[in-house]
Amino acid sequence: MTTYVPPTRNQSPYLPFGDQRNAQFYGKDILSVNQFNRDDLEYIFGVAKEMREMVTRIGTFDLLKGKILANLFYEPSTRTSSSFTSAMERLGGSVIPINEVRYSSVSKGESLPDTVRTLECYADVIVIRHPESGSAALAAKYARKPIINAGDGVGEHPTQALLDLFTIVSELGNVDGLTVTMLGDLKYGRTVHSLARLLSQFIVKINYVSPEILRMPSEIIAELKEKGVSQSEYNTLDAVLPKTDVLYVTRVQKERFENQEEYESVKGAYVITPEVMEQAKDKMIVMHPLPRVGEISMEMDDDPRAAYFRQMEYGLYVRMALLAMVLGKA
Ligand code: ASP
Ligand code: CP
Repeated sequence: MTTYVPPTRNQSPYLPFGDQRNAQFYGKDILSVNQFNRDDLEYIFGVAKEMREMVTRIGTFDLLKGKILANLFYEPSTRTSSSFTSAMERLGGSVIPINEVRYSSVSKGESLPDTVRTLECYADVIVIRHPESGSAALAAKYARKPIINAGDGVGEHPTQALLDLFTIVSELGNVDGLTVTMLGDLKYGRTVHSLARLLSQFIVKINYVSPEILRMPSEIIAELKEKGVSQSEYNTLDAVLPKTDVLYVTRVQKERFENQEEYESVKGAYVITPEVMEQAKDKMIVMHPLPRVGEISMEMDDDPRAAYFRQMEYGLYVRMALLAMVLGKA
């Protein structure tokens, strides 16, 4: 009698023997951008490009047929939640949506470890967004199935940073040599924490423009300094906008402030308008993870440099690639 031995998290049952590259991602969690090197990024973006082609040509296909994703969101989301749903469904899989934990047993006091151990009985991969930094890593500690961090408080938002980088590569053709200016709430914005770390693998110059109380955390600046990244901090945009290739605008994260008066004092600090953009290069892009709440005026939307809507679409292809990879089918 032969006993069935299930594949381990690192051994894809679907791949040709010896496909090390792919096996490297199979069964893996995606918790932080620090787990990816440049070769990994090239590979992910290659798969994302194939996904884009497939979606353009045939829309939906059966790569992940029979696979199930659990979308576990303890914080509001439009893009991340729906793009993971769309990614899974375009790959032929299905989704358990827990977008409103209030209506789940979380409201009865169920812990995060128990919640993920429940969901992994029913799903093959769990996408989680949670208000506490380190929560995705905690979930991964208890889960046997891959956990994908969809934002852990002020910590990281790794899949957003991957799609941001894919946007930069797709729109500008390269990353090395670029000047990236991050604007707004650099203290609480998890997207810029992840993106800055990811960019540290390239030869870039990063400008941080923020109100004094919303500066990029010093430990991230120190982490990047260690890697030799050229970084500068400013309170205003004027001096750096003319030299900027990527202007990455962020929302002031109202929900993270303990003192609402403090929020009021910084909320309208920067607004990108066509007038402001007169100082910018012709060949550059304006990005925003969205939602925007006034940081970029709607008059900007027709400017070809406004990449924020295209950025959302790139996210679908990157998330399709990531799902296929962690489920061993890229
Ligand atoms: N949607 C992004 C996030 O969840 C950015 C934002 O909410 O401002 O981090
Ligand atoms: N960019 C982003 O994470 O958007 P949502 O908060 O709508 O998911």
